[in-house]
Amino acid sequence: MSFEMWAEKYRPKSLNQMVNQKDIVERLESFAKARNVPHCIFAGPPGTGKTTAALCLAHDLYGEAYRENLMELNASDERGINVVRATVKTFARVRTLGEIPFKILILDEADNMTGDAQQALRRTMERYTGTCRFVLIANYSGKIIEPIQSRCAPFRFTYLSKEEQEVHIKYIAEKEKVDLTEDGVNAIYDVCRGDLRRAINSLQAAASLGKPITSETVYAVVGHAHPADVRAMMKIAMDGNFVEARKRLREMILKFGVAGSDLIKQIHRELFRLDIPENWKINLAEIVGDVDFRLVEGADEEVQLSAFLARLTESSAKLKGG
Ligand SMILES: Nc1ncnc2c1ncn2[C@@H]1O[C@H](COP(=O)(O)OP(=O)(O)OP(=O)(O)O)[C@@H](O)[C@H]1O
Ligand SMILES: [Mg+2]
Repeated sequence: MSFEMWAEKYRPKSLNQMVNQKDIVERLESFAKARNVPHCIFAGPPGTGKTTAALCLAHDLYGEAYRENLMELNASDERGINVVRATVKTFARVRTLGEIPFKILILDEADNMTGDAQQALRRTMERYTGTCRFVLIANYSGKIIEPIQSRCAPFRFTYLSKEEQEVHIKYIAEKEKVDLTEDGVNAIYDVCRGDLRRAINSLQAAASLGKPITSETVYAVVGHAHPADVRAMMKIAMDGNFVEARKRLREMILKFGVAGSDLIKQIHRELFRLDIPENWKINLAEIVGDVDFRLVEGADEEVQLSAFLARLTESSAKLKGG
């Protein structure tokens, strides 16, 4: 059995294979057609197709040999701007083979560059515009200095919708001949929320167990508690059975290896689905916020989450008492 990452195997080669990001794809296709590309900034959350779109653009522009006209660098590389400069200089020296006079440099994690490095980058971009077009990739375009932003065409990537993610995941499952239940598809969306890379990786991890993919297998492989288990734990606490609720908590942390920080986010989500008065939700949400903060600060997960369950038990006792 050959091991291949499905996220790579199913990475689109050409712009017309991209899932959604429709406006972006249209604009990029028009660049490819005109055989001209401005400097670009691709901004947006992880796993939504930024790197993929840049590669597809190069593919559609140069054809099969696009790799020769393309360079991918990581801006947070410790050698930073010097590598960029050296690469661009080499680009400038060696003429492109085809009719397109410029090459493309993809600069990933551009938002991690220091202000000084960005200033240097800006000068390099200006100087070599004729021979090199930049595609800067960032999670937050706000971290890129104004002078660079104003020289680039901006593209904003967004998380894929539930429907789009599902269609793509089902397509891959079918190709790979894995048995994916509807409940499994929903669970993948629940944990990945439109981050397609994560969704594909979760699908592959769940498939490797070699049985039909259900919500149980999905939550187990991604190390998340099953929402139904979280809900059950909260209900038990609210029914006044703190000891049992705490047992469930320990089980999730120890047996399934769920991280406290993930669990508190799930609790937060479930909280708003509970059948309790609005002002109680507000109260409890505040406590969840405190716990979340303490966990970030490095407090003990089990102690903090137990404390939350205690408060939950306490408040529902009060609620019932009137
Ligand atoms: N819009 C999309 N259409 C098709 N496949 C996608 C899309 N977005 C992501 N993917 C899949 O997810 C994988 C990762 O996507 P990509 O590397 O483009 O993400 P990214 O936006 O660059 O994320 P990061 O910010 O983490 O670098 C791809 O290999 C591909 O399989
Ligand atoms: Mg990327």
